[in-house]
Amino acid sequence: MTTAQRVTIPFNRPSTAKSSVPYVTQALLSGRTSGDGPYTKRCGTYLTTRLGAPAALLTTSCTDALEMAALLTRIQPGDEVIVPSFTFSSTAAAFALFGATIVFADVRGDTLNINENDLPNLITQKTKAVVVVHYAGVGCEMDTITALCQDAGIALVEDNAHGLFGRYRGRNLGSFGVLSTLSFHETKNLSCGEGGALIINDPSLVDRAEIIREKGTNRSQFWRGQVDKYTWVDHGSSFLPADYVAAALLAQFEEAEVIQAKRKALWDRYRRDLTGWATAQNVKLPYVPPDCEQPYHMFYLRFPSASTMEAARQYLVSMGILAVTHYVPLHSSPQGKRVGRGAWPLAEEVSATLLRLPFYTDMSDEEADTVVAEVTSLTL
Ligand SMILES: Cc1ncc(COP(=O)(O)O)c(C=O)c1O
Repeated sequence: MTTAQRVTIPFNRPSTAKSSVPYVTQALLSGRTSGDGPYTKRCGTYLTTRLGAPAALLTTSCTDALEMAALLTRIQPGDEVIVPSFTFSSTAAAFALFGATIVFADVRGDTLNINENDLPNLITQKTKAVVVVHYAGVGCEMDTITALCQDAGIALVEDNAHGLFGRYRGRNLGSFGVLSTLSFHETKNLSCGEGGALIINDPSLVDRAEIIREKGTNRSQFWRGQVDKYTWVDHGSSFLPADYVAAALLAQFEEAEVIQAKRKALWDRYRRDLTGWATAQNVKLPYVPPDCEQPYHMFYLRFPSASTMEAARQYLVSMGILAVTHYVPLHSSPQGKRVGRGAWPLAEEVSATLLRLPFYTDMSDEEADTVVAEVTSLTL
């Protein structure tokens, strides 16, 4: 798109919540703005209660939470970490940062999640962790993946950036791995600009996670009166957000039901209004298996070819509708080639043919009408 073209319907607008401004103002004026203040604690309590997890630590991003996961699983040079090729750079970068070799896996043709059937061929003596991504918040085949990781003694980490409130066979996404991560970036259902969380499902990792998040110090124990002085005890960095960032997030947590209901209505509407056109044009809509409950994070179209996708994208953009592609397969990225191995045709095909439609909590009926009208005007 050139700068001269006007975007009338953006790809994303961050969700909003009524209490954001009063909460952030209160946090700013409280005289205690650094991390782990009252709003951060309330966010942690919300997540542990909602997810039934032993611990949830707010971080400054999902990327940071993934880096904490790499430290907690003690990734070091020589280790191999299996990740899907069709994902965001952070899923792999967080582990490559500590010297892991990244082993890319292909995706399934239906959910676009990691293909669990490829895992037995990819696991070696050096495999330290498998990192799965629940694409669009639709669960991976967790029964198979959990069993494979348990049998092989490999850490399972869920990059659940898209999947807060998603469920697989009645169980919350993010509760299967030893660790899982969330994103609260502005594009996610609930957001605070930049933010994330580490969910710790193995209670034996909680103490070390707190230390890693607090610059390698036992400051959290000091605040709780468990030690007289705090000191440098392990690896770590500064992974905790300011309390006023948590205040903005808490406001959205408290309105999660309203936000989720609006997103469901939009998703259902896109599916209802686009199904006939998609069938006629041989375009695939998102697939949600019957045993998965999705959190309505995104809506995408899969075109029959790269050229039809690109023509549709250009047309929609020319009409002011910012439809966007998604991940470039990491195995084909410059850094992916340096730190990883594996090349996967399906990930490439999905990347070349998938187009995401504008999707945000407060999309108006008129905006949704316009998107549907322009998409269904397309003849491929
Ligand atoms: C699957 C996945 N993992 C990780 C991230 C990184 O999230 P953050 O921006 O919170 O670091 C993203 C970003 O959208 C993502 O899509």
